[in-house]
Amino acid sequence: MENDSILVLKNVQKNYKDGTAALNKINLSIPQGQVVSIIGPSGAGKSTLIRCINRLVEPTSGTIEIEGKDIMNLRGKHLRKVRSKIGMVFQGHNLIKRVQTIQNVLHGRLGYTGSIRGSLGMFEKRDVELALSILKRVGLETHAYKRADELSGGQQQRVGIARAICQKPSIIMADEPIASLDPAASRVVMNYLRNICKEDGITAIINLHQVEFAKEFSDRIVAVKSGELVFDGSPEELTEPKIRHIYS
Ligand SMILES: Nc1ncnc2c1ncn2[C@@H]1O[C@H](COP(=O)(O)OP(=O)(O)O)[C@@H](O)[C@H]1O
Ligand SMILES: [Mg+2]
Repeated sequence: MENDSILVLKNVQKNYKDGTAALNKINLSIPQGQVVSIIGPSGAGKSTLIRCINRLVEPTSGTIEIEGKDIMNLRGKHLRKVRSKIGMVFQGHNLIKRVQTIQNVLHGRLGYTGSIRGSLGMFEKRDVELALSILKRVGLETHAYKRADELSGGQQQRVGIARAICQKPSIIMADEPIASLDPAASRVVMNYLRNICKEDGITAIINLHQVEFAKEFSDRIVAVKSGELVFDGSPEELTEPKIRHIYS
């Protein structure tokens, strides 16, 4: 099992400098292509967990392996290479508002082209075509040349997904991607995210605080509470009493 896992966490611990124990001995093994939701109350450690995986936060102890490789001591270009395989989707979608949708998507390619390009004309034609084809996959091909801030919140988050996909990641991590959206837009965004990950075999780790969305859109649900992993199972296994325990 573990040999097929794209991501393995062993005894991952995070104590912030002020003494907050945010994660306590987290063990988790995720197979390639699985869509996993992380749920739990506010302050449980969900964001810390995601940030430890791409090492935006340094774990205090434990090990993290991605594609069989220990990433705990990587620095510089080796760390950047690992991060280039992880697409990030953020709560506030983090688009450059005054810039065209397609340029925002192409920012996903910057890890490959190496430098910040000023205008669309400076990207290679095949990158522009790739970005257009990905925008089509999130239903936004007709919005490619609109400014990002002309789109609705849900559309902007679909651009955020397109940008992550443009990076050709093996893992996508999303930290509360639907927190600022209404239920209808949330469902559309989660549908695109799940379907694209499934079609492309991308592993997804999605922090959500809405249990009903986690149950609807994931293969597996992991719950954290006060830094401890308190549930790990299928949506069907996450029963009402278990949900009450997680959020009590
Ligand atoms: N940079 C930080 N310094 C100190 N404590 C932090 C920091 N970031 C988060 N925490 C604390 O760590 C715990 C887990 O936070 P977080 O991972 O953001 O939880 P969640 O995403 O589940 O809401 C909380 O008690 C939070 O206050
Ligand atoms: Mg959080």
